[in-house]
Amino acid sequence: MTKANSRFPLLQIFNNIGYYSMKRYIFLLVILMLTTLQVVAQTKNEAFVPKAVWNDTEGKPINAHGGGLLKYRGKYYWYGEYKVGETTLPSWATWECYRTDVTGVSCYSSKDLLNWTFEGLALSAVKDDPESDLHPSKVIERPKVVYNKKTKKFVMWVHAESADYSKAAAGVAVSDTPQGPFRYIGSFRPNDAMSRDQTLFVDDDGTCYQFSSSEENQTLHINRLTDDYLKPDGQYVRRFIGQAREAPAVFKYKDKYYMITSGCTGWDPNRAELAVADSIMGEWTVIGDPCTGIDADKTFYGQSTYVIPVNPKKGQFIACFDMWKKKDLADSRYIWLPIKINRDTGDMKIPWMPKWTLKDLKN
Ligand code: GAL
Repeated sequence: MTKANSRFPLLQIFNNIGYYSMKRYIFLLVILMLTTLQVVAQTKNEAFVPKAVWNDTEGKPINAHGGGLLKYRGKYYWYGEYKVGETTLPSWATWECYRTDVTGVSCYSSKDLLNWTFEGLALSAVKDDPESDLHPSKVIERPKVVYNKKTKKFVMWVHAESADYSKAAAGVAVSDTPQGPFRYIGSFRPNDAMSRDQTLFVDDDGTCYQFSSSEENQTLHINRLTDDYLKPDGQYVRRFIGQAREAPAVFKYKDKYYMITSGCTGWDPNRAELAVADSIMGEWTVIGDPCTGIDADKTFYGQSTYVIPVNPKKGQFIACFDMWKKKDLADSRYIWLPIKINRDTGDMKIPWMPKWTLKDLKN
């Protein structure tokens, strides 16, 4: 080995393997680096792009529709309808009840709300029992998960439906871990009333409420739950009577409660509505449509599902909507947008933004 090459062992290797092999090695190295860079670029999401395909950390489209989020120990968990396979319209259908077979409720985790790791199915379909709510022939929609500090259990509520949408019930499942597997307890009609589009909200005092479209979707019921969050405690109110509000998403800002809802037009978009209340079981006052910008009158072609309280004290919330593709439900997309709050007047708007980052949450 010459003196110069002993100082540069790589050169020595190249000397040994010869010039042409070296060129081939460098070529392979460059290809490898480019491929690695491409993989990193593919999986790293830098901004929220409403309506685009959102990939998870494996580069696969995120599949969590009609969902909700939970923050637990510094991590966000996103639960949603796992829609795969063909979208079908049952032969008996008299309305556009397009559906996919029930496969379960998916769970994704993330620390930054942008890059999501698939944690698998938190609740899985039950293929061998046609009577089960989780049988592929049924409908499971709008899963929401909350954490019960007293029982230390994660509690999931879903809209549990029969294939013909006549069941109108709520299903409940529990788990010891956020990602599941959740154990399905069963379904019922809360306070003996129909329950379809639904969400859960845990107040600061630990009381949990289920909000659901009831009475043939014409009136919203707010059901207070038992301390273990597994069933209604018997106290409930009827609100938005005869107003056909669906897809409730509830959040709290400065001691007031806010609810975004959609109208009732199946998978088709309609105008969103924001309402406010001083107490959950009290009176709700309609504020109006918070959406602004292109296609605001159709909620940008989305339907509300959840509001993420990123930093409620600073008024930083993300409104989450589903953009349903009724004839190919598996390809339905997500529209997440910052809620812009005027901190002096409390006025809330959801302006259309084709691309944004968490910095845009600042009011
Ligand atoms: C919508 C509802 C969805 C789904 C759909 C079925 O109104 O928000 O969750 O149930 O109807 O057509």
